[in-house]
Amino acid sequence: MRSFTILPLLCMCFVIIVDGRRGLFQSSLGNTFPNYPCQTDPSRSPFKLEPTYTMSPSANGQRICFTGAAIQRCPTEDPCCTQADFYKLELRVRPTCRRAIRSVTVNGLAAPTPTFEVYGLARDMALFKLPRLNLTTTNATGSKICITLRDPCPNLAALCPEGDGSCTYAIGQSTSPHKCCPTNKFGTVPPPPPPASAVAINPVPSKSLPLPTAAPRQTAVLARRSLANGPAPYTGTFPYVSACNQTTGLMPFRLAGSPVPSWTISGGNVYCFTLEAAPCADSTSPCCSSTLLRVDWWSYDTCRGSVRVYVDKVPYPVTWDQGGTFRLTKLNYSPDEVAAQPKQICIELRKDGPCDSIQKFCRLGSTGGCTYALYDGSQACCPTASTPALRR
Ligand SMILES: *[C@@H]1O[C@H](CO)[C@@H](O)[C@H](O)[C@H]1NC(C)=O
Ligand SMILES: *[C@@H]1O[C@H](CO)[C@@H](O)[C@H](O)[C@H]1NC(C)=O
Ligand SMILES: *[C@@H]1O[C@H](CO)[C@@H](O)[C@H](O)[C@H]1NC(C)=O
Repeated sequence: MRSFTILPLLCMCFVIIVDGRRGLFQSSLGNTFPNYPCQTDPSRSPFKLEPTYTMSPSANGQRICFTGAAIQRCPTEDPCCTQADFYKLELRVRPTCRRAIRSVTVNGLAAPTPTFEVYGLARDMALFKLPRLNLTTTNATGSKICITLRDPCPNLAALCPEGDGSCTYAIGQSTSPHKCCPTNKFGTVPPPPPPASAVAINPVPSKSLPLPTAAPRQTAVLARRSLANGPAPYTGTFPYVSACNQTTGLMPFRLAGSPVPSWTISGGNVYCFTLEAAPCADSTSPCCSSTLLRVDWWSYDTCRGSVRVYVDKVPYPVTWDQGGTFRLTKLNYSPDEVAAQPKQICIELRKDGPCDSIQKFCRLGSTGGCTYALYDGSQACCPTASTPALRR
């Protein structure tokens, strides 16, 4: 019994020590960002970023540019005000976003590759450090810092735990006995009163908006303040058609099977699903008697070129659409046909490609399986579901 009572006491002491440190360093974020003790108070630093950023499409994701804000007044007795420079930028990100920042530039010049760190007891926090930006009070104002994002976190809603296109950042200095890390957010100011020509959009694509990556030109972005403060799951916007009914189980089909790599066809890793008949969620809906025209999977644009498909072992053409939508079309299967004879759909993934396993190919749904949508010919029905959880 005794050993059981000691443990809670130890835990309490730990909490008190952590709380004391929080007060000393005045962290408004509970010392969870950045991952070292430092002076987080942004009013003690001359540096911050403009609250808005711009984004423009790039090959497999988005290019995001931040601007150094005007040097601000700060208490001159504080070394974080007078002695610090703007050596690095730290971004609080999701732990799943390793490798998401492909390149960094400062005023058009390449900066070193950022480093990624996962931290916290539960390994549930992460940050990117963008070092050697070399800005000072003489040239930080108006400087452009740009990052290029790619899968698995190709935009800021996917990159940062806020999930609404806003992000928390800290500015770090090169060398100083005093650790200064003024911490702030960008993308959180309310949109200005709308001048007729302004293009201010919410970077979280709502179902009725086109994807930001589809925007033909650079767009200034102001995220709306998020309602919830906690980390939001990255739900994204799949499928990308909005007019159809996405209710799970609306059509009499489903993808079954939790695929493991099985046989190989032309040297890749092959994963097979069964397209089978399933009870309808609403038997009175016209979707329940509709023909299956196409299946969309939620994948990544970087997986293009990595995949072949076989339906009942016969090669089947695949197409790709925006946001990593991987598609089989012109299927034309009636409910009776599939009920009588389920179809085997196999995905073969190139072993030398970036998406060599089904875990890397599928954007996973809440069940840990592949996310997909079924479509009827009229595009009135697009029930969305996940396959059973993938096994390792
Ligand atoms: C910052 O300075 C260091 C050392 O001089 C240099 O290696 C690095 O490339 C500079 N960074 C940028 C973005 O110019
Ligand atoms: C800013 O100024 C510092 C020193 O004054 C210099 O080393 C650095 O290269 C400058 N950075 C840019 C982006 O102009
Ligand atoms: C989708 O279908 C379900 C089941 O028939 C129905 O209850 C729901 O209202 C439909 N939703 C839309 C947006 O039409």
